[in-house]
Amino acid sequence: MKNTKRIYLLLVIAVIFSLAAQQAYAKDYVIGEHKTTVAKPDPASTYVGSEKCKMCHQEKYNDWKTSGHPYKLNTPAEAQAFNSPAIPAPDGYTYNDIYLVIGGWGWKSRYMDKNGYIITKTGANKNVDGSNQYNIVTKKWVDYNAGKTLKYDCGNCHTTGYSLAGSQDNKPGIVGTWEEKSIGCEACHGPGSVHVSKGGGIGVGILKNDSAAMCGACHTRGTDDTKIISKDGFIDHHEQYPEMLNSPHKALNCVSCHDPHKGTHIGQTNPTEGAGIKAQCATCHAKQSTDFTGSTMQKAGVKCTDCHMPSAGKSATGDAAKFKGDVKSHIFKINTDVSANFFDDAGKFANGYVTLDWACLNCHPDKDKAWAGQYAKDVHKYVKAGGPAAAPPTPAPTQKSPAFELFFAVGALLVAVLARRK
Ligand code: HEC
Ligand code: HEC
Ligand code: HEC
Ligand code: HEC
Ligand code: HEC
Ligand code: HEC
Ligand code: HEC
Ligand code: HEC
Repeated sequence: MKNTKRIYLLLVIAVIFSLAAQQAYAKDYVIGEHKTTVAKPDPASTYVGSEKCKMCHQEKYNDWKTSGHPYKLNTPAEAQAFNSPAIPAPDGYTYNDIYLVIGGWGWKSRYMDKNGYIITKTGANKNVDGSNQYNIVTKKWVDYNAGKTLKYDCGNCHTTGYSLAGSQDNKPGIVGTWEEKSIGCEACHGPGSVHVSKGGGIGVGILKNDSAAMCGACHTRGTDDTKIISKDGFIDHHEQYPEMLNSPHKALNCVSCHDPHKGTHIGQTNPTEGAGIKAQCATCHAKQSTDFTGSTMQKAGVKCTDCHMPSAGKSATGDAAKFKGDVKSHIFKINTDVSANFFDDAGKFANGYVTLDWACLNCHPDKDKAWAGQYAKDVHKYVKAGGPAAAPPTPAPTQKSPAFELFFAVGALLVAVLARRK
């Protein structure tokens, strides 16, 4: 009898202790599509914000500012400041009626009302369904979940230090809270308070994770990272990780090619396509690069990525019949079989190889797969019949020798002096 009482007492104590322990951990931070628990560099690490990293890592900070990551969620003032020209507010709204702008950096923008709900009704009386997504390139309004009541439950991929508990700023339309808007330094490096308080240093209270899975936490879709989900005849956007897992590059990391701090897509703060690519195809595929040099298409300005990374993904705009989307694919391998299809029979998933329609027909719209199949096998070396023979690879520009320049300058001076004498 005495023993049972003691056990009960112990149990009660244990419960109290475990509750106290939960209090001590306060927030459970998660990240990405699968809402995985955030890895902390130190059990005591908390979030300090990207501005705190700036003083010691100015260059990385400046690079990061050129990328899309810091502009995922913007206050109306921020959205108008980084956009030139400023993206408009939906019809019937002014920026005073907007809580946050979602995106607007590279492809499209959506908007939250003052209660944190995604705006789906527009017009003077806010009773018109749709026209609620602004596409940057076409400058057109399109429908996104027109008329539906839509909570903003996207913070797990759009913010830093996301927690499923509560609502940011007590906005009823927002699911969860965050420590910093957008993809801050600590989204990839983990909460940095310990690193900062110790004055920084290699391996001191900070993570440096090169793995594709780290980026893949957010650059994926659905429950299974090996499945490339399709939508409306395109790969749905933000699926670079599943695409890569289906590609011959599955053993590479995203940062084998990407500088994670620089912009790659053309966007409001990055005017140069591919700026953040630090390893070009030719760096690792010298043979194909040499083969391609001097071919008809190389001379016409066609690039490796045009065939191997066609824009088979769609975020804002696209025309599936013309094999043109707006997100470059990361599948790379081209299947030259003319009967191969890009999507499975049900149209639910991409098969994991680039087919000749996507590789060739967006530039050759009047042709078909059978036509492309005739040339595909040796296309790197293809020289158009009747055209000029394969030119030798363009020689590296010859350096003018300093001696020559000196000789030329002295010569010019002499001529000038002689001319004056006359
Ligand atoms: C007080 C200065 C200081 C601040 C503030 C600071 N760092 Fe550092 N950090 C350093 C120093 C020093 C190193 C050592 C390497 C070097 O000299 O670049 C370093 C290294 C790093 C590394 C490489 C770690 C490794 O193991 O290779 C990362 C990543 C990093 N910092 C991220 C951050 C982030 C993110 C923040 C903001 C949360 C931040 N740092 C704030 C000084 C600082
Ligand atoms: C999208 C993810 C991501 C973001 C955001 C990010 N980093 Fe990094 N950072 C990385 C990765 C991955 C590496 C390792 C780079 C590599 O191996 O090429 C790295 C490396 C570093 C290093 C070590 C430099 C080196 O040469 O090894 C520092 C310092 C650093 N980051 C600071 C920052 C700061 C400061 C910010 C914010 C202004 C930031 N990072 C934002 C992913 C990120
Ligand atoms: C699994 C992570 C993830 C989730 C969940 C997610 N997004 Fe995104 N989103 C991304 C990534 C990554 C990109 C950019 C890369 C791409 O589109 O391929 C992006 C791009 C966008 C853009 C375009 C940004 C620009 O600058 O043009 C908008 C707008 C957007 N998302 C809205 C939403 C909304 C609204 C939700 C929730 C209903 C949501 N996203 C949920 C990861 C996610
Ligand atoms: C916390 C989620 C998250 C993580 C982790 C993440 N991204 Fe992103 N990424 C996004 C979102 C959201 C966008 C859309 C940003 C926008 O358009 O404003 C994006 C956009 C991009 C873009 C297109 C915009 C540009 O700057 O060119 C590239 C490239 C990119 N990410 C690469 C990476 C790489 C490489 C890593 C890993 C080193 C990584 N991302 C990790 C969420 C994430
Ligand atoms: C950092 C090095 C690296 C870069 C950069 C790189 N690749 Fe690769 N690539 C590899 C490796 C490693 C493999 C797998 C081994 C192999 O088959 O050669 C591979 C395989 C391939 C294959 C399949 C090869 C086969 O035999 O079927 C294609 C196609 C390909 N890459 C295209 C590209 C294109 C296009 C680019 C530029 C967008 C590129 N790669 C950039 C390293 C790289
Ligand atoms: C006009 C479209 C096109 C361009 C441009 C192109 N490729 Fe390819 N590439 C193909 C096709 C089609 C195949 C498949 C050939 C086969 O399976 O026989 C291929 C195959 C490959 C392979 C697999 C190995 C091989 O040689 O078959 C690699 C690696 C590769 N390309 C790299 C590159 C690189 C690097 C560049 C730029 C220097 C490039 N490609 C430019 C269409 C292209
Ligand atoms: C083999 C090299 C390579 C690897 C590996 C790679 N990328 Fe890329 N990525 C590129 C190139 C090249 C571009 C296009 C640059 C351009 O437009 O000129 C690109 C573009 C992008 C874009 C912008 C798409 C667009 O339409 O502009 C995103 C987002 C992106 N990559 C994310 C990732 C992520 C996430 C990973 C890892 C899962 C990854 N990349 C792995 C080479 C690579
Ligand atoms: C980025 C656009 C682009 C892509 C992608 C592309 N091509 Fe081309 N292609 C061109 C251009 C431009 C020319 C014209 C070159 C000329 O005639 O001066 C051309 C010319 C050709 C020619 C010669 C045309 C003729 O009338 O004789 C053939 C054959 C060809 N391409 C095959 C292919 C195949 C096969 C693929 C896919 C594996 C492909 N192209 C992908 C742009 C592209």
